[in-house]
Amino acid sequence: MMNTVGIDKMSFFVPPYFLEMDELASARQVEPAKLHIGIGQDQMAVSPASQDIVTLAANAAADILTEADKAAIDMVIVGTESSIDESKASAVIVHGLLDIQPFARSIEIKEACYGATAGLQLAKNHVQQHPDRKVLVIASDIAKYGLASGGEPTQGAGAVAMLVSANPSLLALHNDEVSLSQDIYDFWRPTGQTYPSVDGKFSNETYINAFARVWEEYKTRTNLDFQDFSALAFHTPYTKMGKKALLPVLEGHADQERLMSRYEEGIVYNRRVGNLYTGSLYLSLLSLLENSRALSAGDRLGLFSYGSGTVAEFYSAELMPGFEQALLTEKHQAMLENREALDISAYEAMFSETLDLEQEKSFQDQTPFSVCEIKDGIRHYKK
Ligand code: CAA
Repeated sequence: MMNTVGIDKMSFFVPPYFLEMDELASARQVEPAKLHIGIGQDQMAVSPASQDIVTLAANAAADILTEADKAAIDMVIVGTESSIDESKASAVIVHGLLDIQPFARSIEIKEACYGATAGLQLAKNHVQQHPDRKVLVIASDIAKYGLASGGEPTQGAGAVAMLVSANPSLLALHNDEVSLSQDIYDFWRPTGQTYPSVDGKFSNETYINAFARVWEEYKTRTNLDFQDFSALAFHTPYTKMGKKALLPVLEGHADQERLMSRYEEGIVYNRRVGNLYTGSLYLSLLSLLENSRALSAGDRLGLFSYGSGTVAEFYSAELMPGFEQALLTEKHQAMLENREALDISAYEAMFSETLDLEQEKSFQDQTPFSVCEIKDGIRHYKK
């Protein structure tokens, strides 16, 4: 019989700064209700120049790794669409910062916000073949659309780390994934372009249609339906997005009220962080696990991953006995509470500060992993 394989531990990290949506609304002269209700965002995480996808990833993973885990990790996979190098994988740097045993494979996966889900599937397959080994999967991104751009209220930054093992403490991953690839341009970022090109309305439509198609195919292949799920978690570019995709399919169904209540529990953290791109679905999963009182061991959860361009995927996972003990709820809530609120000018200054590899510079950032110096065209990290 195949071993149970899944997420043994998971954590997230967000930079220690945020912008209130009320502050943004007043600066951009839009109604606060448009951002709170229309978009569904209350705050957004802002990353200083000294925190990049490598340090966000290392800080998220450091929370969950013991020395025994580091000795058992065969692969470090970073899913990202805000890569800092066209060649070298950020996972190689993360592997070094975390002192993971040397005989490991370290790679970066790209397909917009879907990349970490591909990483998770790869990790699951690897551990199914090698049940005594583990894989570290990290989703890490900084979502930036530009000051005063249409996408500005849907920015964010942070990372989610997941340790995949046999006999997991949190979630067993089922082998029931259904994926969908479509070659379209709803959101993309050609090499060298600072901010993405985005067709906002089209991206909403493709997300909604991709969910409907993947869900229909999933139902046909598995014979499962909404009543078989205790909760559904969605990729959450902004918290209203998943609702816009789920409601038309769920409307009038007996499970509507129950699943929409779980949906709200799954966006508590996302409302305060914004878009994490690759990490967004997994932040929503953590939000659900850490904020819902309605879940119990044995429950089936559905996860919808969406990466523009596009690849979408739906799969399910089962909650393990004692999963509550494997969560870092208090730590995560304290991290969100202890962030510093920026006013609009501090946000704009932080947003505009970029790392120029041709200019030597040093940083004094107290965060455990952060960029400490730019020298000889290389980012140097403090651990
Ligand atoms: N009170 C309450 N609601 C209000 C309001 C008010 N005063 N004013 C406006 N609204 C509502 C609107 O009715 C609208 O609701 P619906 O979506 O239900 O129709 C909502 O607020 C948004 O209003 P607009 O459509 O006018 O918003 P916009 O033109 O500013 O665009 C956006 C919104 C398209 C999401 C834009 O922020 C954007 O382009 N974001 C980036 C792209 C994105 O996130 N796409 C999501 C799918 S792609 C994906 O998932 C991958 C990824 O991570 C990027």
